[in-house]
Amino acid sequence: MKKVVILHSDIAADAPEDELDCLRQAEAIAAAAQKHHYEPVLLPIALDLNSTGAKLRALKPSVVFNIVETIAGRGSLIHLACALLDYLQIPYTGCPTEAMFISSNKPLAKKMMRRAGIATPDWLEQDGSLFQETKAEQYIIKSTWEHASIGLDETSLIKRTSDAEMLAQMKSRRAKLGGSCFAEAFIDGREFNVGLIAEKGRARVLPIAEMLFRDYAPDKPKLVDYRAKWAADSFEYNNTIRKFAFAPAEKPLMDSLREISLRCWELFGLRGYARVDFRVDSGNKPWVLEINANPCISPDAGFAAALTEAGIEYHEAIGLILEDAMK
Ligand SMILES: Nc1ncnc2c1ncn2[C@@H]1O[C@H](COP(=O)(O)OP(=O)(O)O)[C@@H](O)[C@H]1O
Ligand SMILES: [Mg+2]
Repeated sequence: MKKVVILHSDIAADAPEDELDCLRQAEAIAAAAQKHHYEPVLLPIALDLNSTGAKLRALKPSVVFNIVETIAGRGSLIHLACALLDYLQIPYTGCPTEAMFISSNKPLAKKMMRRAGIATPDWLEQDGSLFQETKAEQYIIKSTWEHASIGLDETSLIKRTSDAEMLAQMKSRRAKLGGSCFAEAFIDGREFNVGLIAEKGRARVLPIAEMLFRDYAPDKPKLVDYRAKWAADSFEYNNTIRKFAFAPAEKPLMDSLREISLRCWELFGLRGYARVDFRVDSGNKPWVLEINANPCISPDAGFAAALTEAGIEYHEAIGLILEDAMK
């Protein structure tokens, strides 16, 4: 029997919900891989890469299913998993090291998108570098490397003031944002997620999902913050609703979201599966917020919902992703 190691983040027993999710993904992938006659073995990655390398050498997997999101709790180390697997010459699922690095560092990814003519909101970096083309009045302070809406809530929104004042705000918040952050123009509009999966060597765009903000008071900021993603008993979690059905009049917007997502796939050298997050402003212009080279593939997350909408069963998708890694 072929062996697949499911390499996941090293998670402390008392880890928060967003980290525990990686283990749930690992278990779901293991069950799906068994349907493809793989013997699954779960393995956490350690910051001591030698010890993880030794374990991988001993296990001799045919392939690694890489769902590492953090190492030692840090998103900024995400690409080390891929780099270790490159070094050990073990094939692995999903994005290669370079794509993982350049897409997971959000300001770096944004610079690449701007150069390639893909719209991404204006932003101000910690070192004072300013990338400004519009006159946004509101900005959101968010993490450079962390995902899963870590550290995001309503207080993340600030008024556009002087750069100096904004830099001071960023400095005071960066500790709870994984140590590094930036400020980005807030697009007060609709939110969309576009999942992509490799099929026969090409990227297939999955049905587009819109996140609806149900019953949000007019003055309540519409954002998929930490509570919306992880606090199952919160207003935000229960009132951010995914929708897949769109009126025919929306076709030009849907076409444009698909086209931009495919350009991101090419630009970043994505592989296996990925998700692109968008906001669309009142003028119907799409802005890319971020590229997820390692999107959550829990059976209850957005990517899996898009698979279901496409008529692809969860285990079939895991099969496609494994196949893509082995080719
Ligand atoms: N510039 C922005 N304009 C509007 N909403 C934003 C912006 N940046 C982030 N958000 C909100 O915060 C959420 C998380 O931000 P995102 O950049 O996707 O990071 P993460 O990696 O944590 O998912 C988004 O889904 C969106 O609701
Ligand atoms: Mg996101």
